[in-house]
Amino acid sequence: MLRTITAAVGAVLLSTLAACGGGDGAAAPGGAAQGDDRITMGFSQVGAESGWRTANTKSIQEAAAAAGVELKFSDAQQKQENQIKAIRSFIQQKVDVIAFSPVVETGWDTVLLEAKRADIPVILTDRAIDSEDTSLYKTFLGSDFVEEGRKAGQWVVDNTQGAVTVVELQGTTGAAPAIDRKTGFEEVIAARPDIKIVATQSGDFTRSGGKQVMEAFLKSTPDIDVVYAHNDDMGLGAIEAIKAAGKKPGTDIKIVTVDAVKDGMTALANGEINFIVECNPLLGEQLMDLAAKVVAGEEVPARVVTEETTFTPEQAKAVLPERQY
Ligand code: AHR
Repeated sequence: MLRTITAAVGAVLLSTLAACGGGDGAAAPGGAAQGDDRITMGFSQVGAESGWRTANTKSIQEAAAAAGVELKFSDAQQKQENQIKAIRSFIQQKVDVIAFSPVVETGWDTVLLEAKRADIPVILTDRAIDSEDTSLYKTFLGSDFVEEGRKAGQWVVDNTQGAVTVVELQGTTGAAPAIDRKTGFEEVIAARPDIKIVATQSGDFTRSGGKQVMEAFLKSTPDIDVVYAHNDDMGLGAIEAIKAAGKKPGTDIKIVTVDAVKDGMTALANGEINFIVECNPLLGEQLMDLAAKVVAGEEVPARVVTEETTFTPEQAKAVLPERQY
């Protein structure tokens, strides 16, 4: 009897230690490192700031389950220090591969050097980092955000005449999509000096942020012609502010956004948004494929660009019934 109880307690202890990755800092190795075929991936997500992010998280979790990858998922709540902590914890746990979507572009070299020294490959997904040392990561999977900004700018150039007043709702300050979407947009509208960005501020990629900043813009800036929002959620927040100010979104003030999530596409189909540039969040499958190759020591391309399109209201109506996210 005593022997049975001792054995049972021992088994529970062992499985608890394995699940915790070694609570005393003595790290439990990841699957491939343990000699079985299961890959352990540490994934640090930006947060849950937008519909896009929710769809991205779901895609990664589902793809990991389908590929038999053990996923250690950590939500950074839009804070770089949380992502750095998570990456250090993944290193301690000796995961096979680390993937993350960096909340901002800069400040990663130290922690990524720690991962490199621990011989753990890193994959950037969705957002890039700004570092001269490209040996700190194996590949970057995600959208071309500059191109997205260009597409948004081109719509404004092609669909407006004469003097045009634009207000810009920027994404999170220092984040790759905020920097690049601004760059691409400005590059294209430069062809039309009568299109002017008269106000620009971060709404942090959130609906509430977009609403708040738009309320301020409506008070400070008379005669806004166009809102350029770096994502759907901020555009949807702007719609609420425009309606509250007694104006008609999509008619009195044109709205161009990026993402094409269901809520954004519904507003586009209803005529409250005028144009959406797609940013595809369904990166899970590609990420798991790249992870398997990287862990196996195979070569992978340094950059994998996501394929994306744009949507007019008519196109939104056509694709909405099939839209996954
Ligand atoms: O990095 C992708 C961007 O982050 C999406 O456009 C936005 O919705 C999200 O918060």
